[in-house]
Amino acid sequence: MILTVTPNPSLDRTYEIPSLDRGEVVRAVGERVDPGGKGVNVSRAVTAAGRRTVAVLPLGGAPGALVADLLDAQGIEVASVPVAGATRSNVALAEADGVLTKINAPGPELSAAEQEALLDTVRRHAPGADWIACCGSLPRGLAPSWYADLVARAHVAGVRIALDTSGPALRHALRERPDLVKPNAEELAEAVGRPLATVGDALKAAEELRARGAGTVLASLGADGQLLVDGDGARFGSAPVALVRSNVGAGDASLAGFLLAGGRGAEALASAVAHGAAAVRLPGSVMPGPAELDPGAVTVTARIPLDRPLSEPAT
Ligand SMILES: Nc1ncnc2c1ncn2[C@@H]1O[C@H](COP(=O)(O)OP(=O)(O)OP(=O)(O)O)[C@@H](O)[C@H]1O
Ligand SMILES: [Mg+2]
Repeated sequence: MILTVTPNPSLDRTYEIPSLDRGEVVRAVGERVDPGGKGVNVSRAVTAAGRRTVAVLPLGGAPGALVADLLDAQGIEVASVPVAGATRSNVALAEADGVLTKINAPGPELSAAEQEALLDTVRRHAPGADWIACCGSLPRGLAPSWYADLVARAHVAGVRIALDTSGPALRHALRERPDLVKPNAEELAEAVGRPLATVGDALKAAEELRARGAGTVLASLGADGQLLVDGDGARFGSAPVALVRSNVGAGDASLAGFLLAGGRGAEALASAVAHGAAAVRLPGSVMPGPAELDPGAVTVTARIPLDRPLSEPAT
């Protein structure tokens, strides 16, 4: 079982519009509502693979109830922590030419009692978990050391923990030695405080995160692929994608793929890359299932292309 923790989930409303004209009334030609949040995406990908997952989510108000209903309809088990504030509603404006504008709300502030209830819910479900995946930003009210606490508690319970977060939350958590972190290029650059122009720069930065406490670093480098750095050294994986539909959630799909394949080594890296590539071939944040994967297209090598420039350098 893979336990996911999404401290700041959302109800994502996507409007399809011809084009975005500021200051005008824009008529949507389509509308959809999805449960949102990075851990929620991981749970959706795990479910698509036919494996068990529980998604721990603070949920409040009518949007929170709707998130729970939508996940239930998708067959995803939710361990919800009732909170007084309403779950945030995010809005995405999808223009006909493919440009996506997102408006993300801050979300409710969690009280001390709600924070404790959230930790307690993770603790109750941890014993049955192979991995705990903690994903996304922290809502207001949670200290930047909140994920660090969670890492320490997971280790007391003897459960491996993966983190997909950034900034101070990541920095604090490294001290508690998370088993896995999955930064993208931007998050990696921010964590080491310098820009990344090449795969070699990303490798150095990933090694630095290991030195600061991460057991394994799975760095996702967008179209360029992924770097896996662990105690055995480094490996690089990639897969070409002819038609990119949407890269939203590709990192979440990758993390799910890595954990689903055991969470270590070249095979898990190959699965992460296959899941990332499949996710970008699908629209929106749709998570791939086994039928959408093309493992044959994935290359994994221990010869890191150090001098290869990143197609999107991280500043
Ligand atoms: N244009 C692309 N072509 C091929 N593969 C891609 C492309 N974009 C992403 N991928 C695959 O998906 C993985 C994850 O993408 P990315 O690094 O953009 O994650 P991310 O920024 O964490 O995304 P998110 O947080 O939205 O889930 C990449 O490492 C790569 O394997
Ligand atoms: Mg990401």
